[in-house]
Amino acid sequence: MIQSICVAGAGTMGSGIAMSAALSNFKVILFDLNPNMLISAKKEIDANLDFLIAKRKLTGPQKQQVLTNITFTFLAADCVTDLVIEAIVEELDVKIKFFQTISSINKSDTIFASNTSSFSITLLQQNIPNPARVAGMHFFNPAHIMKLVEVVKGEQTDEKTIELLFAICSDLKKLPVRCSDSPGFIVNRVARHYYLEAMNLVENNISDIESIDQAMESMGFKLGPFKLMDLIGLDINYLVSESIYNAFNHAARFQPSDLQRKKILNKELGKKTGKGFYDYTNISTGR
Ligand SMILES: NC(=O)c1ccc[n+]([C@@H]2O[C@H](COP(=O)([O-])OP(=O)(O)OC[C@H]3O[C@@H](n4cnc5c(N)ncnc54)[C@H](O)[C@@H]3O)[C@@H](O)[C@H]2O)c1
Repeated sequence: MIQSICVAGAGTMGSGIAMSAALSNFKVILFDLNPNMLISAKKEIDANLDFLIAKRKLTGPQKQQVLTNITFTFLAADCVTDLVIEAIVEELDVKIKFFQTISSINKSDTIFASNTSSFSITLLQQNIPNPARVAGMHFFNPAHIMKLVEVVKGEQTDEKTIELLFAICSDLKKLPVRCSDSPGFIVNRVARHYYLEAMNLVENNISDIESIDQAMESMGFKLGPFKLMDLIGLDINYLVSESIYNAFNHAARFQPSDLQRKKILNKELGKKTGKGFYDYTNISTGR
């Protein structure tokens, strides 16, 4: 039975995952090596809870309860828990080392889930005692809002772990979908073509950015491919393309786009830099 959850990494994803878990009344340990990230995460969670109060989805006393559910720490030794959700920096060596450290202080049945976007869960299972309890739990940004979680089965993950993570997702009011360990899992792999084909159309002068976004949105997609890349960050989106391209031995269908690479070299990374495929200093594209 899972009562406490340690979320490792208090960045973009970790703070949202910690908030979701605390809202569902789990005792949460939010761990980050960088104390400044813990301070920012606390501020962000506070502001997001205030937003829920303003929307009448939470009361003041409930907010206080959610906040008391979270313990902030920069000490790995404090991460003794029933479930660890790892959302630290996307560097394989750092993640492997983290899981080794954390397995040395936790009991052998503590569940380890990684929020990695691009690394193989099977690789992360290496050299960890009882690798059957290691799986992927891929949340989407912003993690406190987006419902979808891809639950990823590594080669050594057992069914019990997957079932338990499905149950946790339902406690967190998320929608879990099951996936085997494969580059890009489901969403990042299928969506690759949404981005890459759209950029191909522009590079081949078949259409323009605004027309493509308009066309796709009118077909029911919430955001056109260019608006979506601007929201995600062109640099992040490019890295995912690159990692899937490498994982598929440079299959042409996953080849990263030159158009996107040039934008990144120009530091036009999307909304976060004020300019990407659209210029956010002059126009509003919604959301
Ligand atoms: N950003 C997204 O849209 C997104 C979406 C889905 C999944 N992910 C995945 O989530 C993970 C985190 O991404 P993010 O965007 O939140 O990153 P981020 O850079 O915002 O946060 C990473 C945090 O990890 C901390 N950290 C680094 N090494 C650590 C260690 N050894 N122990 C503890 N903390 C450590 C850093 O101080 C930082 O606060 C990555 O694996 C990423 O691939 C990101």
